[in-house]
Amino acid sequence: MYYSTLQIRTPGGDEEGMRIFALGDLHLEGGTGKTMDRFGESWRGHDRKIFGAWQRTGRDDDLLLLVGDISWAMRLEDAAPDLYRIGQMKGLKIMLKGNHDYWWQSRAKMNRVLDASIKILQADSIVVDRVAVAGTRGWICPDDSYFEEHDAKIYEREVGRLRLALESLKKQKSEFDSLIVALHYPPVNDKHEPNGFTELIDEYGADACVYGHLHGEAIKTALTGLRGRTLYYLVSADAVDFAPAEIKIIRTRRTE
Ligand SMILES: [Fe+2]
Repeated sequence: MYYSTLQIRTPGGDEEGMRIFALGDLHLEGGTGKTMDRFGESWRGHDRKIFGAWQRTGRDDDLLLLVGDISWAMRLEDAAPDLYRIGQMKGLKIMLKGNHDYWWQSRAKMNRVLDASIKILQADSIVVDRVAVAGTRGWICPDDSYFEEHDAKIYEREVGRLRLALESLKKQKSEFDSLIVALHYPPVNDKHEPNGFTELIDEYGADACVYGHLHGEAIKTALTGLRGRTLYYLVSADAVDFAPAEIKIIRTRRTE
């Protein structure tokens, strides 16, 4: 399964090509009754802000990357109402897992409840209208203030998964013009030091890297903007004012 690559073409599209948006940390309630108010005033009614914003700006031929922490639900059936709402959002949605998505199940089980407009990204890649998206959840990076010994193994595994995701694209390297790496966790530690994730991002020359997970004060010191040839975007809901952020990439034809 790890080497799979899905190739999708959306109908229509204008001269500028498909628009790409990203949002992380939707933290929908999943039947838990859990609100996000305790994370700050801005989170009050945050789900209405998110869906309202997309109602206004989203289009059927947009690509929307949802980078984890989708729902507080513990079981897939409890996440179903949240997944239904996501299915109703305009455009093609590519979704990956965050650290709070305990409801997440096998691809086969998920696909039974997911709307056809939602695709799962899990250590693999999807190409839509010549835009490649490769991703995995990620993990806390070495030498971060919160990094502990037991994190090393999970970090290494996630770096390996990103490599698999990117390798899955090699087989069709001439069939995409731009590359986006999508993670839930930041691709760097809190000192923005290089690591296995950034090595891969650099090696494959990703045009953009989108990630979430950071909230509140951590947003201020997060890696954003250009590093190497890659534009980094933090798209956790409170970092982007609860509206999917447009990801601008320069589409240069890849010929290797
Ligand atoms: Fe998270």
